[in-house]
Amino acid sequence: MKETHVGIIGGGLMGREMASAFARWCALTDVSIRPVLTAVADLNPQTLSWFDCIASCEQKTMKYQELLANHKVDVVYVAVPHHLHEKLYLDVLAAGKDLFAEKPFGIDLSAARRILDAVNKSGRFVRCSSEMPFFPGAQRAYEFARCGKLGRLLEVVSCFHHSSDLDPHKPANWKRQNLTCGKGGVLNDLGMHACHLPLRLGWKPTRLFAQLQNGYRQRPDGQGGMADCDTWDNALLHTWVRVENEEAPLRLEMKRLAPGATNTWSIEILGTDGGVRFSTAEPKSLWVFERNGEQWWKRTNLGFSTPFKTVTGGIFEPGFADVIQQMWAAYLMEREGKLGGRFGCATPEEAVASHEIFAAALESQEQGSVVTL
Ligand SMILES: NC(=O)c1ccc[n+]([C@@H]2O[C@H](COP(=O)([O-])OP(=O)(O)OC[C@H]3O[C@@H](n4cnc5c(N)ncnc54)[C@H](O)[C@@H]3O)[C@@H](O)[C@H]2O)c1
Repeated sequence: MKETHVGIIGGGLMGREMASAFARWCALTDVSIRPVLTAVADLNPQTLSWFDCIASCEQKTMKYQELLANHKVDVVYVAVPHHLHEKLYLDVLAAGKDLFAEKPFGIDLSAARRILDAVNKSGRFVRCSSEMPFFPGAQRAYEFARCGKLGRLLEVVSCFHHSSDLDPHKPANWKRQNLTCGKGGVLNDLGMHACHLPLRLGWKPTRLFAQLQNGYRQRPDGQGGMADCDTWDNALLHTWVRVENEEAPLRLEMKRLAPGATNTWSIEILGTDGGVRFSTAEPKSLWVFERNGEQWWKRTNLGFSTPFKTVTGGIFEPGFADVIQQMWAAYLMEREGKLGGRFGCATPEEAVASHEIFAAALESQEQGSVVTL
């Protein structure tokens, strides 16, 4: 199997998640590329030492420039706070490497546009991380919507909810501050997840009205004091999309204060003839609406029907770690021109389109009015 050497900049939550997906690559049975984690860069020596458990990871450095100078590294995955995206992504491209970027692809719309410009000039292969559409239920919802089974589109609701911020004693981190997370706050944090499938289906909002909410404005700083938290925590975006000369409402929901939810991604697509609903809270269940004399909501228990085949038994249920691995399989296979019609990772253009939605949402919140995109 052909090997692709990967370097990771930012070995925190997501850096380690990706590294572990590579470590069990043997689970995949129909890929012809294998990622080999060769190098990692992080400012924190303790974080770097976690990578000792990965034998192939021969370079561990606190200076990401050293990783970029490593001739062995083909692809760089960058998982750092949002205020660093633009600088690091541009440095990766300037070093002549392919890039797997994290969302939101720059701290704001102008950064995202500058990154896209650099991507186009560089000719490098670049995609943006967004793993939830790789759940079998999400794939089926996407196919259902694409295959014209909906009739006239009535309504779409695309959500990403968690409740990590409900506890006021949870210490602040960089995701809770505009300076490092961006003024979009939860839009930057969770927005790409909610926008990805609608954008892939061609449903880009033409107008929107946003309701943004703050949660706790101060949190413990982890050192005995309190830190200001100025990011938006919840966002409801009421938007309109145009499909075949008709307008339909698309609601995008991103919440860090959703009581009871733990990283729950869901989508509901309703049409006059058919509908579909999937939530990662019930990772096996796909709900399909049919109208043929009577009206039916049918539920089927999906198995492990992932886009890339695996050794995992077909009746087992998929989870977060599985879709992360599927997303990487899509990235690496598309990079080699071998995607073969399967679902590809979010493109730089889709990432910029999601930022256009976030910028319009911030404008709508400020003006208290509907904004045209
Ligand atoms: N796709 C997803 O589901 C998902 C989930 C969570 C986070 N994210 C995204 O991943 C990115 C990182 O988030 P995270 O939760 O992993 O954050 P994190 O805070 O857990 O990790 C960030 C890491 O970057 C390191 N770092 C900071 N500056 C650096 C520098 N100059 N050079 C090298 N390393 C540096 C930090 O030491 C830290 O280890 C963000 O863009 C975030 O939005 C994506």
